[in-house]
Amino acid sequence: MSSYDVIVIGSGPGGYVCAIRCAQLGLKTACVEGRETLGGTCLNVGCIPSKALLHATHMLHEAEHNFAAMGLKGKSPSVDWNQMLSYKDDTIAQNTKGIEFLFEKNKIDWIKGWASIPEAGRVKVGDEVHEAKNIVIASGSEVASLKGVEVDEKTVVSSTGALKLNKIPKTMVVIGAGVIGLEMGSVYSRLGAEVTVVEYLDAITPGMDAEVQKSFKRLLEKQGLKFVMGAAVSGVETGKGKAKTTYKLRKDDSEHTVESDVVLLATGRKPFTDGLGLSDLGVKVSDRGMIETDDHWATSVKGIYAIGDAIKGPMLAHKAEDEGMAVAEVLAGKSGHVNYGVIPSVIYTHPEVASVGQTEEQLKEAGTPYKVGKFSFMGNGRAKANFAADGFVKILAHKDTDRILGAHIIGPMAGDLIHEVCVAMEFGAAAQDLAMTCHAHPTYSEAVREAALACGDGAIHA
Ligand code: NAI
Repeated sequence: MSSYDVIVIGSGPGGYVCAIRCAQLGLKTACVEGRETLGGTCLNVGCIPSKALLHATHMLHEAEHNFAAMGLKGKSPSVDWNQMLSYKDDTIAQNTKGIEFLFEKNKIDWIKGWASIPEAGRVKVGDEVHEAKNIVIASGSEVASLKGVEVDEKTVVSSTGALKLNKIPKTMVVIGAGVIGLEMGSVYSRLGAEVTVVEYLDAITPGMDAEVQKSFKRLLEKQGLKFVMGAAVSGVETGKGKAKTTYKLRKDDSEHTVESDVVLLATGRKPFTDGLGLSDLGVKVSDRGMIETDDHWATSVKGIYAIGDAIKGPMLAHKAEDEGMAVAEVLAGKSGHVNYGVIPSVIYTHPEVASVGQTEEQLKEAGTPYKVGKFSFMGNGRAKANFAADGFVKILAHKDTDRILGAHIIGPMAGDLIHEVCVAMEFGAAAQDLAMTCHAHPTYSEAVREAALACGDGAIHA
């Protein structure tokens, strides 16, 4: 029986980062992974492959829409779908092999197979039982099912099937206007598919700042995506390679159908903990299947910890990574910490959408006195030169103290720009601190500074 200080179950961003940090802190570490490659959903069928397709199709969009105006004439590129898929697969391989390399470098044993926990201190993989002083569950999440919709990964796909369709569909219905629906909907819309997004709520991307939601929807509509809002999908029928989606409009209960070549189900994910043996162990799990943990990621059973999508909080790779590092520190006798108030969230469409901290709606509801500093990318020279002037930066600061409470960006490179505000918030900065920091010209990040200036005496280029 091999014996470890820590066995991490799952090698997604939560698990592999946790394993590396444990090893760096001197703990003898193994990581169990049942997939053929390391990296979990994120690297294999999530963040990384979707970004490859988003990048390739954004380049296509640029060529089709902006090249001629810049004096780049000639035929727009044609799409070689198989080559695009192999570019995506190469990107996955480079990343998953990278994790394998990091495991070897840090002397982490990769135990191949699916784990169960027969008792605290023991992890069973296949016929072998391994001993561990501590176990960290980082088993991630899986697609949540929707009644009446059966995913076959051909005509009705989840995000996994959407990354490897046999051919580009002419028509696509996306169920759910959340992150996955809008990212993958954008990919296929740019590739020429007619995309209809059917969303239960009256606004897209639930939980996001309402002004951003409105502007985002308008920009996506301009790109050709169609939206049916306030519509609850009740079922999808398939036959002869086609799908018929039925939905009911909430305002009048009227029933409608829409036909398409492909349906993407993107109505959320749920924790994946099958086969671990949690109920026999007595590990407490919430009604929604999330493993319950305390402030140090300890479950109700001593020596068993849990992080990432399997526990509460946003299902984001970087949230899982932070928890992975923090729990490793706890296990090494240090004080691990995650600031849940400063976790950015990004949608990698074009334009990108990024946010951190509180929304204006949340501040209103809490009765917090606040002020808004807003700046449009129309006033940013670099954005204008790059045909990327759609969108804005919105900073919310405390009315009395000027402390930054949240930021919401829709625009070019929003996913990178947001981190300036994250660092500022981590340091408890005031909007004035950002406003007084010299920003290089001409950069998109000047728009962040201008929004900070708008929290005070006013932006310059507005
Ligand atoms: P989501 O929770 O973001 O959005 C699901 C949407 O489906 C909601 O707007 C909901 O109102 C709608 N919906 C639910 N039932 C419906 C019905 N019967 N009919 C019509 N609409 C319905 O879920 P999504 O997009 O599947 O993403 C899952 C998770 O993965 C999220 O937690 C997300 O944060 C994460 N993710 C993050 C990414 C990123 O950070 N860029 C990329 C992809 C996924």
